[in-house]
Amino acid sequence: MDKILIKGGIPLKGEVHISGAKNAAVAIIPAALLVEGKCTIENVPDISDVDSILAMIRSLGARVEKPDINTVVIDAENVSGCTAQPELAAKMRASYYLMGALIGRMGEAHVPPPGGCNFGTRPIDQHLKSFECLGCMIDTDDTFVNINADDLSGGNVYFDVVSVGATINAILAATLAPGKTILENCAKEPHVVDLANFLNSMGANIKGAGTDIIKIVGVSSLRGGTYSIIPDQIEAGTYMAAAAATRGDVIIKNIIPKHLESITAKFEEMGVTIEEYDEAVRVKADDKPLKSIRVKTLPYPGFPTDLQPPMVVLLATVSGTSVVTEGVWDSRFQYISELEKMDINVDVKGTVATIKGGTPLKGASVSATDLRAGASMVIAALCAEGTTEIDCLRHIDRGYEHIVDKLIAIGAQVERIND
Ligand code: EPU
Repeated sequence: MDKILIKGGIPLKGEVHISGAKNAAVAIIPAALLVEGKCTIENVPDISDVDSILAMIRSLGARVEKPDINTVVIDAENVSGCTAQPELAAKMRASYYLMGALIGRMGEAHVPPPGGCNFGTRPIDQHLKSFECLGCMIDTDDTFVNINADDLSGGNVYFDVVSVGATINAILAATLAPGKTILENCAKEPHVVDLANFLNSMGANIKGAGTDIIKIVGVSSLRGGTYSIIPDQIEAGTYMAAAAATRGDVIIKNIIPKHLESITAKFEEMGVTIEEYDEAVRVKADDKPLKSIRVKTLPYPGFPTDLQPPMVVLLATVSGTSVVTEGVWDSRFQYISELEKMDINVDVKGTVATIKGGTPLKGASVSATDLRAGASMVIAALCAEGTTEIDCLRHIDRGYEHIVDKLIAIGAQVERIND
């Protein structure tokens, strides 16, 4: 089993290059099933969630080539399957995007309920509701959600909760559906916009992505082309937190500063100096003490839930009491018990974590309990006294490209070992 060993206490300094966005890539790759002709997708992160979704579309008959580690060429001409393999689907949450893509492409989808990080109930009722609003018939058996889309057509969908996945799935299902679709109360995350931009660049007619209301006029076909995925907002925020937590000075390159506004605002409130450039931010925390703050996670443009664990660790390094409220997932503080092995002082009540910061974190052996929890353990280890050993790296590998190399490049003492 692989482990990461980190010797803490070194301020990070230098430059780090951010990869393409995981949550955009795992939506855009299945979207390529809707396209006639070859799609070349650039800036694809080299992570295991991408490998999993590529394996899934290959198993349906798509031809996939990787001319280099960050470029994927997909030719979906020979896709003939409409049943996703359960053992592949169990590996990741985003397998549910095969539902929307197969509805549009095949008129039929059999996809197991999704796997992925487990932090409380993760229903897909809003995804299914949107398919029904577009004329689909759905039944669920022990293994699959079975969707018949013989009567697929445009329709009106009002989402009862703001859901990234349901918004993306509805866009996928509606792109080739005859007629007009109106989606209301949509998620506005950058990866929702990126998916719509990808589909529009291939000939779709999708307007309003990035706002509450998305209007789609179904087109009869999409043509192939080349598209480059946006930078990963969450990976960028993770390195920002690592730089601030170690009281370092790091330039984070290949980002879209606008996507980081809620993060930048909170870091500035803490006293971190942020310098913004066209495609980079410099995070400087080596010259003055930082302040404790309150943070609430919310759908975009609010502070992202996926940066809640890194933020908790950053706040644990700051003297005083900080409060972090989780506003998206019911149960996303389970990782705290693992961080307690490193002497973090956090009291969790429901969706509110009270952090008593400023006492040193200590190196320990911990397990990455999920993707972003794993990232928070890496940050805790970078700040801690002594050496930390992190296992269950499969979670971190799902979403952080070459994390060890990137950390070494900014001065961390990190090594990956095979135990
Ligand atoms: N929800 C429902 N019904 C639904 C769908 C969602 O009640 O049908 C609820 C959820 O229970 C949750 C809230 O709505 O309370 C938001 O869930 P959402 O559907 O937006 O989450 P998701 O699409 O399953 C994506 C990301 C997550 C990220 C969330 C929130 C992907 C593949 N995953 O999940 O990313 O936390 O949006 O921003 O895009 C991660 O990258 O580590 C990760 C977990």
